[in-house]
Amino acid sequence: MNWIEKLTNERFLTREEWRSFFEALDDAALVALKQQAIHARRDHYGLDVYMRGLIEFTNYCKRDCLYCGIRRSNKSVERYRLTEDQILTSCDQGYWLGYRTFVLQGGEDPYYTEDRIVSLVKRIKATYPDCAITLSVGEWPRSAYQAFYAAGADRYLLRHEAASPSLYASLHQGEENHTRLQSLQDLKEIGFQIGAGFMVGAPGQTQDDLIDDLLFLQELQPHMVGIGPFLPQSDTPLANANPGTLEMTCLLLSIIRLILPDVLLPATTALGSVNPHGREQGLLAGANVVMPNLSPTSVRELYALYDGKICTGDEAAHCRQCIEGRIASAGFRVNMTRGDHSQRRKKNDH
Ligand code: 5AD
Ligand code: FES
Repeated sequence: MNWIEKLTNERFLTREEWRSFFEALDDAALVALKQQAIHARRDHYGLDVYMRGLIEFTNYCKRDCLYCGIRRSNKSVERYRLTEDQILTSCDQGYWLGYRTFVLQGGEDPYYTEDRIVSLVKRIKATYPDCAITLSVGEWPRSAYQAFYAAGADRYLLRHEAASPSLYASLHQGEENHTRLQSLQDLKEIGFQIGAGFMVGAPGQTQDDLIDDLLFLQELQPHMVGIGPFLPQSDTPLANANPGTLEMTCLLLSIIRLILPDVLLPATTALGSVNPHGREQGLLAGANVVMPNLSPTSVRELYALYDGKICTGDEAAHCRQCIEGRIASAGFRVNMTRGDHSQRRKKNDH
């Protein structure tokens, strides 16, 4: 059986088939997989790479994910939160640099209540009606997601982190992943373009755990998928664990591109942090989104989910230039439009 051909044509493999797929992955298959991924991406998006301006607006977090540098038990991190005005200033800077999507990402910060996020979204939307707003603010009750959507948020990123219940529990102190997976379903039903995702090479992650993630993505059919290598952070319990690799992450990017040919798939900051050319390699494996940082440089270093994060000293304008050069060097071109998922593009075209 040619598994790559089957995956390309049917976009779906069973657990047993995924096992055979991985068993059959030799060097030639890896080359073929990458080629198919590049084709799929070109068919749906041409050579365009979509730009998102990322604003990391708070590093307070009430959760305690074992891998994450801003977990609540980490007493060494200096906490910050941007005010609504500061966030608007970052958006303004982003807007003038050409960004038309703002991604608001933060820890689960009790100061940023449902009402405060609603007010923030409304204000950004009123100021920049031609921009898309993506929220990446963790788990909330369904009613809060509804309020965020009604306020004008367009997209929601909530990495599922691990579809395997046992891996999820081991990374989150015994917690179940059921509510998180349900949240993604809720967000999709409400009307958001949704993003799931996971870390590659998370401590304890087996091939079967990764297959769980792929089966979950096949089922959920998200509009976006964020993946990056796990990278240890020195003040966490996983400080001494091995990092995920560039190669494994690129392999998974190609696989995800074939499961979801029109997915919006970022070459993430973590991928750029594991290797100086990680993001370019990611684009060449099937990714088509980059998310340069718009946060004020004064707080960049404090949003340290993992060690060795790139761009912490760079101004937004510098990143804008830098990433454009990298995209061009990989043979692609920058697209500064909102970059909605193909299923939603008509609705939002002006
Ligand atoms: N290494 C890589 N990615 C991480 N994230 C959190 N901590 C780490 C780490 N140590 C990822 C999680 C989260 C996203 C915002 O960043 O998957 O969802
Ligand atoms: Fe920030 Fe390259 S993207 S310096």
